Amino acid sequence: MNVQTLRDDFPILKNIIYLDNAATSLTPEPVLKAVLDYYRSYRANVGRGIYSLAQLADQRYREAHRKVADFLGTTQGVVIFTRNTTESINMVAHGLKWKRGDNIVTTLLEHHSNLLPWMRLERSGINLKILKPDQNGKIELSDFENAIDKRTKLVTVTHLSNVLGNILPIKEISQICRDNNSLFLVDGAQSVPHMYLNMKKLDCDFVCFSGHKMLGPTGTGVLWMKSEEMIEPLLVGGGMVDDVSLDGYRRKAGYEGFEAGTPNIAGGIGLGAAIDYLNRIGREEIRIHELTLTAMLLEGLLDIEGIEVYGPRTIEDRSCVFSFNVNRLVPHEVALMLDQASNILVRSGHHCCIPLMNHLGLDHGTVRASLYFYNTENEIERFLATLEKIVKVA
Ligand SMILES: Cc1ncc(COP(=O)(O)O)c(C=O)c1O
Repeated sequence: MNVQTLRDDFPILKNIIYLDNAATSLTPEPVLKAVLDYYRSYRANVGRGIYSLAQLADQRYREAHRKVADFLGTTQGVVIFTRNTTESINMVAHGLKWKRGDNIVTTLLEHHSNLLPWMRLERSGINLKILKPDQNGKIELSDFENAIDKRTKLVTVTHLSNVLGNILPIKEISQICRDNNSLFLVDGAQSVPHMYLNMKKLDCDFVCFSGHKMLGPTGTGVLWMKSEEMIEPLLVGGGMVDDVSLDGYRRKAGYEGFEAGTPNIAGGIGLGAAIDYLNRIGREEIRIHELTLTAMLLEGLLDIEGIEVYGPRTIEDRSCVFSFNVNRLVPHEVALMLDQASNILVRSGHHCCIPLMNHLGLDHGTVRASLYFYNTENEIERFLATLEKIVKVA
């Protein structure tokens, strides 16, 4: 993998050090080209027209769904295109058939997107159990074992914390779900772009993630679910039915039955191109490069006196999302200083995880640096050097 050559596909990188990949990734030229090709050469609606341009658009849009399924290593179930992880999770929350007294088990590590949809269900008599992590983000498997029982309809957890960077033992949690006949939802917003998720091995019922965090256009996300019968669609209307009478309607099979109305066609095709791009580099190559950067960043941050690092201190338990604070400075000050001093872009604040921040006692949140494969060792060095200067003046 030649990072320098790949970086040519991201012209925006000429002037910045982009370390906010957990919020959204950058978009390479081939993805932009795929989006423009659709608008320039075969723009038409999908699932409707019979003329050749409409057939071409339909074929490309359908192909993009297949690419996502291949990426997840599965031919089973259905890949539905959504706007983002948030919409995917809400589709499940709205689409499952609930009854009063059902239990949901989740964790305090969750992004608001995997918390609020379930909190809202509490108003309908659903019980929510929220497992609390320790200071490093760890939740013992025994906590899951104790919380999940035969009344647990759904367990919903993040695979990779967008604050602390720790990886949850999804396989083991899935086994506990199977033992109790509970459904299992994995929030893969942070993991799918970096880790190899194989649906066959993972054994879960729903996986939700965002195309825009893995080189796809903004406004793209995915809900994969094991079987089409598991939920009702969030929206109903045009494009998703085979037949309608005044007595009712018959939904189309597959993703079309869940994507009512004209979808984000260019976005979906762009997401397909993003997957082609990631596959061309090779996921193992990406993993190895990110591992090198992760080790370098972890070691560098731990070495700077005056910085407190949160989350696991060993690379085996973490991925490339880092939260930290600089003594005597609030996170927004640090983010501004990094930007002004060296065009280094990081996120600061609560990262849509206010309950977690309260639990950790971090009133102002943290500074978060998150990597992707186009980051370089040189960028990490410059980031660490700038931080050292900031610590000295703080
Ligand atoms: C773990 C996790 N879940 C859900 C989301 C929500 O993603 P989106 O804003 O694309 O809906 C994010 C976004 O940062 C995330 O990190």
